[in-house]
Amino acid sequence: MKIAIITLFPDMFPSILDTSMLRKAQEINAVEYHLISLRDFGLGPRKQVDDTPYGGGNGMLLKIEPLYAATAHARSLTKNAKVLLMTPKGQTWNQSLAAEYATNNQDLILICGHYEGYDERILTLVDAEISIGDYVLTGGELPALTVIDAITRLLPGVLGGENSAAIESFSHGDNLEYPQYTRPEAFTTPDGQTLKVPDVLLSGHHAEIDAWRAAHATKKN
Ligand code: ADE
Repeated sequence: MKIAIITLFPDMFPSILDTSMLRKAQEINAVEYHLISLRDFGLGPRKQVDDTPYGGGNGMLLKIEPLYAATAHARSLTKNAKVLLMTPKGQTWNQSLAAEYATNNQDLILICGHYEGYDERILTLVDAEISIGDYVLTGGELPALTVIDAITRLLPGVLGGENSAAIESFSHGDNLEYPQYTRPEAFTTPDGQTLKVPDVLLSGHHAEIDAWRAAHATKKN
């Protein structure tokens, strides 16, 4: 899967893309990332990428020409890619969407919005608008990394042997982790509190352990 990322801040990406599972995914050729600097497609000698909104209002909008040209370049690096625009107005990202994109294994172009917004005409190039939650971030870079991480770890061979099972159960939202503990059995904090591992986990009774885990694998809201 090729993933092209269009951003004003390409420097935000390498440290995360080149670490842990996202790095492994590249090493096993499950994924190839292409960072595209929107600034390179800016207009004029000052490489202008933004401008004031028609009709008035505060702030600057990303201009259509650089977005259009950067997307065309991203298309030349990918095949049949789906174009996703990161925006708080989009469809809320979740595990089933991640599983869907991982299963489709289709190339992706992620556009990171910035400043106060973008010229709405960019939507003519976009297949889906994605939000990672009901809050407003400074730009689409952290959302893009979130989306990439969620998809990439589900690609075959990235996590290990249990991938298709992981996709299956995640997409039904039923594999939330139960609480886990490792040594020591009792940990005493500097102020004298002793934090113990639940007795049932030390009991060796597998049926009881399974029941305890099932009862505690719930989501906190
Ligand atoms: N850009 C700014 N905030 C965002 C969000 N919550 N999701 C996606 N893109 C964004």
